[in-house]
Amino acid sequence: MDLKSFYMNQQPVEGFSKLSKQRKIDWLIKEYLSDDRSYEQILQQYWNGDAILQKLHEEFSENTISNFYMPYGIAPNFLIDGKLLALPMAVEESSVVAAASKAAKFWIDKGGFKTTIINTKKLGHTHFIINVEPHKLQHFFNFKLKKRLFEATEEITKNMRNRGGGILNIRLIDKTADLENYFQLKASFDTVDSMGANFINSCLEQFGKTLTEEVAKEETFTPEEKDSLQIVMNILSNFTPDCIVRAEVSCKIEDLKDDSGISNEEFATKFKRAVTIAEIEPFRATTHNKGIMNGVDAVVIATGNDFRATEACAHAYAAKDGKYTSLTHCTIDGGVFRFWIDLPISVGVVGGLTNLHPIVKFSLALLGKPSAQELMSILAVSGLAQNFAAIRSLVTTGIQKGHMKMHLLNILNQLGATEEEKNHFVTYFKDKTVTHHEVISQFNSLRAQ
Ligand code: MEV
Repeated sequence: MDLKSFYMNQQPVEGFSKLSKQRKIDWLIKEYLSDDRSYEQILQQYWNGDAILQKLHEEFSENTISNFYMPYGIAPNFLIDGKLLALPMAVEESSVVAAASKAAKFWIDKGGFKTTIINTKKLGHTHFIINVEPHKLQHFFNFKLKKRLFEATEEITKNMRNRGGGILNIRLIDKTADLENYFQLKASFDTVDSMGANFINSCLEQFGKTLTEEVAKEETFTPEEKDSLQIVMNILSNFTPDCIVRAEVSCKIEDLKDDSGISNEEFATKFKRAVTIAEIEPFRATTHNKGIMNGVDAVVIATGNDFRATEACAHAYAAKDGKYTSLTHCTIDGGVFRFWIDLPISVGVVGGLTNLHPIVKFSLALLGKPSAQELMSILAVSGLAQNFAAIRSLVTTGIQKGHMKMHLLNILNQLGATEEEKNHFVTYFKDKTVTHHEVISQFNSLRAQ
């Protein structure tokens, strides 16, 4: 059967989510996997032996049939604001943890990484349509609605206010130049140690309700104006340009020794030029920032945070001035090399998976139970370190040397190499550049002997 007729023969399933885990698996194997029960084995292999732990994982999401493993590694020797940390990293790309560790070691005897929280404001919007003159709406907002929005959310914000956060401000934004009759209630929030998505969205949904009620009651609006109100959506923004952490490293050029054989000055100049290229060239900036996010996301995942949110935010920020650019910057001034990142990032250390996932709890304990601000700092450092390691390789040996060295075991595993063969090739390639072709060729000749 060709692929097209295979899929044409499938029948939609009703109530899949209500089936038991076993029935779901049975159905999938029958419908999609030619009744080959060996696939069931693959799924079962990844079930946790502890039924309670397995159930916990299954309840994180709907329709769970197994667990998806990711390597969980440690990059030690990170000196951050005077504290020596070992960073937990969940990432499948072979060279990321090694690169982080190498960068950490490079900076440990040069003062380490320094961080500054620049601000911690998060944003959300009620997007709505109303056919009312902007100044009339502004008047209604200033003198009635704003106060009512704060009052109506008092119950929702109570706990957060007790923890030192809450709604910071609410503004009416006129967007009618972009879309007819389009306005926003734009609110800023302090969510303290939580990422705050649920808190923000709950406040915003209340804004939508209160706006509807207050418009209906408003005597200065005509019946037509009242009828024109449509709440389009109430949702936080994952773009947090006012929730920024800076991480930086600096040292005298004379201390900037790379072991590839080039002089300190040449290394510094080449490094800075590579950063400048990422600042001016979006094609390079995309890969450059991808490398930064290798470091950020690995720690975001290990600490139970939402890497899609941190990705979306970082890239939106990189494009905030209308052209996509680098998130890191470099200067050489008065014989001092300085390299830094301004990373917009919204993360939490309470709520979500943080109190539920045992490995996440381990990660947070390993990091000394950081506050959300301390975690922001760690994440920015992880991104900066990863970028430092990548650029350092790119402008000296090239990326493939380190990258492929780490990938060697993946290639050998794919070829079905024994432990003995793997040890042999790790030694063999110690002083040689690993390429896919060369590994296969050496492997075949070893097996042919
Ligand atoms: C690979 O995952 C990331 C790099 O391409 C980043 C970079 O080029 O800066 C090595």
